[in-house]
Parts: sequence; structure tokens; C-alpha cells
Amino acid sequence: MAQKVIAGNWKMNLNLEQSLELIEHLNTKEFDEDVRIIVFPPALFVQPISSLIEGDFEIGVQNFSQNNNGAYTGEISITQSESVGVTVGLIGHSERRAYNSESNELLKAKVNHAVVNNFDFIFCCGEPLSIREAGKELTFVKKQLQESLFHLTANQINGGIIAYEPVWAIGTGVTASSVQAEDMHKNIREWLTEVYSTDVANSISILYGGSCDVSNAKELLGCPNVDGGLIGGASLKAEGFSTIIQSY
Ligand code: 13P
Repeated sequence: MAQKVIAGNWKMNLNLEQSLELIEHLNTKEFDEDVRIIVFPPALFVQPISSLIEGDFEIGVQNFSQNNNGAYTGEISITQSESVGVTVGLIGHSERRAYNSESNELLKAKVNHAVVNNFDFIFCCGEPLSIREAGKELTFVKKQLQESLFHLTANQINGGIIAYEPVWAIGTGVTASSVQAEDMHKNIREWLTEVYSTDVANSISILYGGSCDVSNAKELLGCPNVDGGLIGGASLKAEGFSTIIQSY
């Protein structure tokens, strides 16, 4: 059975004081230890947050370089991230694909760099509205996975995390219905079975992201092939984020 994961992607929100307040508030909550909980604050705040966190939380980075340390102004490396307690990174969030022109090829390089460095990652995929309206979402998402992820060996991908985030559902308040989410997740699991094996497919946590909040989390997270959530806006409030984690 795939590990349950709830992750909070803070994006470029909150200042230092607000970030620490959120963590202090989360420190007062109790969570099921079977759920892997990860927060993705702005990288600037990783260190103060890691000294404050008391619970069983992991800290992730929202992006990392495909290169080792060196002359890459504005970038953050895996080794630097690990040196301040980061255990996992996002790869291929749709906002980075859209605003930072991250291509499937570049994302493949990040995937490879993470694997070589033994660094956990959440690989994000998802279709824009025009693709969904044209009924081509399965082909689109499959291509994202084929071009950036499915070249890995079974050993390399085993136990990994994929997040399905339909672009039209991100920050819009329009969530995928549980039928739409389950349909995509089931297909992703089937592709993993075809490319690898049933065992590998069942070892991979497939998270849903896109306007997931306290009002719909239970239903979405209750779908058979949804193993967790990548939560944006609703992860910025301790109360709401805790309730989502406690949906399990
Ligand atoms: P929202 O939950 O704000 O729609 O964002 C989802 C997301 O992009 C998480 O990575």
C-alpha cells in the first residue's frame, strides 16, 4: 500500500513572522503517525522553521537546481537544501512550468539529479483547461510522465511520489470532482503497472492537488487511488491544514 502523504505548498506566501506562527500553531496539533506530512515553505524560511518544528514534519523545497553547487546565481542545490534539514523537493509544479519555462526535458534532468543524490521528490503533473476541454487530459499527463519520469528504473522510482494537479483547479476554487480525480489517478497507476509492475505501481503515492480544502478533502482523499494531497492555499492556515491531515 502506498504511503499516505499530506503536503503543504506555501508558494510565495507569508513573511517570516507569519511562517513561524503557522508552525507554532501546527506544533500544538496531533497527527496520525502513519501520514507523512511535509511543508514546503519559501526556501528563505527553511532554517528558522526547522529549528521550531516539534512534530513529525518534514521540510521540503519548492524547487531545486539540476546542477551541483557552483556559479548558478539565484539557484539552490540539493546539498545546500539537505544541509538545513530539507528532505524532499517539488519537481515540475505547473507554476514553474508556466512562469519559469520548465520543460519536460529540464524536469527529467532534475529527476535524474535527485535520484543520483538520493533526494526524495514529488513529481507534479497536470493538464491546463484547454486540454481538459478538448478531452485530451490523459494523453497530456501521460506524455509529461513519459518524458520526465518513466525513464527511471523500477528501483529508482519505487516508493516515489507523484502529484496530479490539474492546472484549472489550482488556486481557482474549482476542484476536480472525486470522479475526475480518481479517473486520472487510476490511469496513472495503470501506466505505472504497464511500465514497471503492480508492486511498483502500488508503492507510489499519487497525491491530488488543486483547490483541495477542508470542505472537499475527505471526499477527494477517500478515493481508492488518491494517496494524499498537495495543498496550496488551504495549507496557509494551521486550523484548515490540520483538519485536512486529520481527514485520514
Ligand atoms: P491550491 O490548493 O491553492 O489550489 O494550490 C494547489 C497547488 O498548486 C499545490 O501545489
